[in-house]
Amino acid sequence: MTVTATSLRIDRSRLLTRIDELAQIGALPVEGREGGSSRLALTDADGAGRDLVTSWMADLGLRVDIDGIGNVVGTWPADRLDPPVLTGSHIDTVATGGRYDGNLGVLAGLEVVETLIEAVADGDVELEHPLAVGFFTNEEGSRFAPDMLGSLVYVGGLPLEEALDTVAIDGAILGDELERIGYVGGMPCPARPPAAFVELHIEQGPVLESDGITIGAVTGVQGISWQELTLTGQSNHAGTTPIDLRHDAGYVAAAVAVAVRRMASETPGLVGTVGRIDLHPGLINVVAARATITVDLRHADEPALTSAEARLAAEVAELATTEGVDVSWRPLARFDPVRFDPKVVDLVEDVATAHGRSVRRMASGAGHDAQMLARVCPAGMIFTPSVAGISHNPTEFTEPDDLEAGANILLDVILRLATAAGTTP
Ligand code: HGY
Ligand code: MN
Ligand code: MN
Repeated sequence: MTVTATSLRIDRSRLLTRIDELAQIGALPVEGREGGSSRLALTDADGAGRDLVTSWMADLGLRVDIDGIGNVVGTWPADRLDPPVLTGSHIDTVATGGRYDGNLGVLAGLEVVETLIEAVADGDVELEHPLAVGFFTNEEGSRFAPDMLGSLVYVGGLPLEEALDTVAIDGAILGDELERIGYVGGMPCPARPPAAFVELHIEQGPVLESDGITIGAVTGVQGISWQELTLTGQSNHAGTTPIDLRHDAGYVAAAVAVAVRRMASETPGLVGTVGRIDLHPGLINVVAARATITVDLRHADEPALTSAEARLAAEVAELATTEGVDVSWRPLARFDPVRFDPKVVDLVEDVATAHGRSVRRMASGAGHDAQMLARVCPAGMIFTPSVAGISHNPTEFTEPDDLEAGANILLDVILRLATAAGTTP
């Protein structure tokens, strides 16, 4: 559909300034260039980041609501209680995080709301739906599994009480940590569904850059399977124990990592990652008694993901039996592939074209809060390119022109969804 681009534009320097200020919290400096951040969910750094962003929301006159799992949503006009057009993402990061993953979606959303508040004040815009921008708790899932935990509770996919009992990889209890940083809110979970949800996010992969394209109209998110394996063997002397008498949990863990890579290399569309291997006792001269490893499998096709899980289980069972090692499994996350609302995908594509931006449709390799919101309302995403496809790395980078372009497409999409002209799909 041919649309005419709005003449409204975000304030580029205001957006970049806020991105830089938030990035300083938990800063991970990089020699000679802007660095990343480390703000694992519900740590003090995450709490400080939350305080900064909610202060910006309050300064703009948004009504700041916090729910029982610590999701934060700022709504404008503050007295509107009807379903808003919601944008946002997350501000928690992985331990080696960049400054754009999640943060761009929240701060571009705040910038869009501020720009539209100014436009309403000037009489240029008349809203049908209230505007809202939010950040969801523990999107990354690195400290507390699963990922997208906060938005999953927000849409009713996980009971609040169960979520609050989640145990972190460092042993902390989610509810205790939420209390400790002061973000146990009174807004009920699950939330009343918004009118629509649109998330701006960096691609975190190489596709847009290699195609020389500025905007991704995201069609959906691939399926995610996270599992933790505990391998129990027998500690023994590294020097005296003959190889055929060993029950070496460390060897089986390494063999599983090799098997995961081989399976992913042989299966079109499958990616597999062993991100964590902890050995006990983890000493140079002791055959490992125990290994705890994580396996992250993803595929856009549900049957293919299920068969990859079955193949993994069979290969692990064979490796463990041969070595005389016991295996126990703990599921950490399992989300089916998600397709976004076609009308929202079309809108992103049409608006990007109207702005004269190159655009392509593409699926997301990473998980996002939008995949949870898609369960309760029309949802979609806008991608901007990641330089060299790097993410979950302090050197993550997106060109300022691309950040600005993405935020302006978000502005125009939100404007259409929130005004009388663009009733929600
Ligand atoms: O794991 C993911 O895809 C996201 O970064 N939480
Ligand atoms: Mn993210
Ligand atoms: Mn991430």
